[in-house]
Amino acid sequence: MLGRSRLSAGFLAVAAAVALAQHAPPWTEDCRKSTYPPSGPTYRGPVPWYTINLDLPPYKRWQELITDKAPSLKVMLNYLRDAANIFVPSGKLMKIVDEKLPGLLGNFPGPYVEEMKGIADVTGLPFGEIISFNVFYEFFTICTSIIAEDKKGHLVHGRNMDFGIFLGWNMNNNTWTITEELKPLTVNLDFQRNNKTVFKAASFAGYVGMLTGFKPGLFSLTLNERFSTNGGFMGVLEWILGKKDAMWIGFLTRAVLENSTSYEEAKNILIKTKILAPAYFILGGNKSGEGCVITRERKKSLDVYELDLQQDRWYVVETNYDRWKRPLFLDDRRSATKACLNQTTQENISLPTIYDILSTKPVLNKLTVFTTLMDVTKGQFETYLRDCPDPCIGW
Ligand SMILES: *[C@@H]1O[C@H](CO)[C@@H](O)[C@H](O)[C@H]1NC(C)=O
Ligand SMILES: *[C@@H]1O[C@H](CO)[C@@H](O)[C@H](O)[C@H]1NC(C)=O
Ligand SMILES: *[C@@H]1O[C@H](CO)[C@@H](O)[C@H](O)[C@H]1NC(C)=O
Ligand SMILES: *[C@@H]1O[C@H](CO)[C@@H](O)[C@H](O)[C@H]1NC(C)=O
Ligand SMILES: *[C@@H]1O[C@H](CO)[C@@H](O)[C@H](O)[C@H]1NC(C)=O
Ligand SMILES: *[C@@H]1O[C@H](CO)[C@@H](O)[C@H](O)[C@H]1NC(C)=O
Repeated sequence: MLGRSRLSAGFLAVAAAVALAQHAPPWTEDCRKSTYPPSGPTYRGPVPWYTINLDLPPYKRWQELITDKAPSLKVMLNYLRDAANIFVPSGKLMKIVDEKLPGLLGNFPGPYVEEMKGIADVTGLPFGEIISFNVFYEFFTICTSIIAEDKKGHLVHGRNMDFGIFLGWNMNNNTWTITEELKPLTVNLDFQRNNKTVFKAASFAGYVGMLTGFKPGLFSLTLNERFSTNGGFMGVLEWILGKKDAMWIGFLTRAVLENSTSYEEAKNILIKTKILAPAYFILGGNKSGEGCVITRERKKSLDVYELDLQQDRWYVVETNYDRWKRPLFLDDRRSATKACLNQTTQENISLPTIYDILSTKPVLNKLTVFTTLMDVTKGQFETYLRDCPDPCIGW
């Protein structure tokens, strides 16, 4: 059981780390070199592959994967249940989640409801808890995404998935509880139709949206959280109140990966579709100049920032701040990433050098669950579990 003391201790640890900030050693370091192939203390281990057969009815698609991962999924959901019971004692919140959430959220279009029902039945967990686990990723996804083009016009796309802030800190080894519990849930997915790959993704078992994936030969896509006052909570509220014309962001990303057939089509959909929470979409294509960061409000796009080789813009980087604003001074992963890209130079861009950059503190931090590297034209998709041993900043 999780005690109130552990949560408030986590909060104190955060406050202490805030005071130290992110700018000075040991929280930052020189750009790492030759860290690939992954090894050593920042590498936790490989990520297993599963095939998801889209020819099966949605209810059955996740059975094999979820049968393997049910124990870890239960640990995670138990933890979330305990956390909810601390904030709203007497189990009332979880009772609402279990009994009311399915009705409140109503029907999602597409395969999602049936897929989540299948997952609930295999694990024996309440359907409402599986839904809440899926909604969870609309918030708190703090990440770094990079698309870079080398001198030959070849694109690479990398991302660190950082997740789990503020939901509890392990004092014994200085880690975030959720971040640690997500590591055994991390999977690589090969979505197939007719025994052929439609797209590949790195995800968490139990989640049916997608945040990181690519379509070999066509495009790559990552989603980063965007914090805004007109944020996801408003969107969810509108949804519950019956205004269901917007899409959940992770479900939109999944739909684009599954059904879009070109960079241009994907870009157009990501710019135009109404969404429930603000977001950044980082989209790469299969040829020179095809790479952009789309900054989204819920109802419209604010900015589409593309590669532009004529202007020597050979990379785009997104963390969790609008590019025209300064990042929060406590969290400047953006400058660190750009400084390392500048140092690497366009001549040396490759999956290994992108891994070096994503391994440099504070781009790598205590929230980093995994690193994914994608090469659309070569069809390479690699995911690695990460650790950030002390000294290392909390985010
Ligand atoms: C830290 O401790 C937690 C809880 O005991 C454990 O689950 C996790 O694997 C540990 N992480 C590391 C990096 O040692
Ligand atoms: C996929 O491959 C398996 C064996 O590898 C075969 O039994 C099955 O019929 C194939 N399915 C389709 C839709 O081609
Ligand atoms: C992709 O398109 C197919 C066919 O229209 C549809 O059945 C499926 O639900 C779509 N997938 C998603 C994730 O929206
Ligand atoms: C690149 O993507 C386009 C669609 O945008 C596709 O027509 C073309 O075949 C792709 N090129 C390669 C080499 O796969
Ligand atoms: C990286 O290089 C670009 C172009 O020379 C420059 O504008 C930018 O300030 C540099 N950024 C960092 C963080 O070094
Ligand atoms: C980049 O490549 C050049 C040679 O092409 C090499 O001299 C230089 O050291 C490399 N820089 C880095 C940061 O790897």
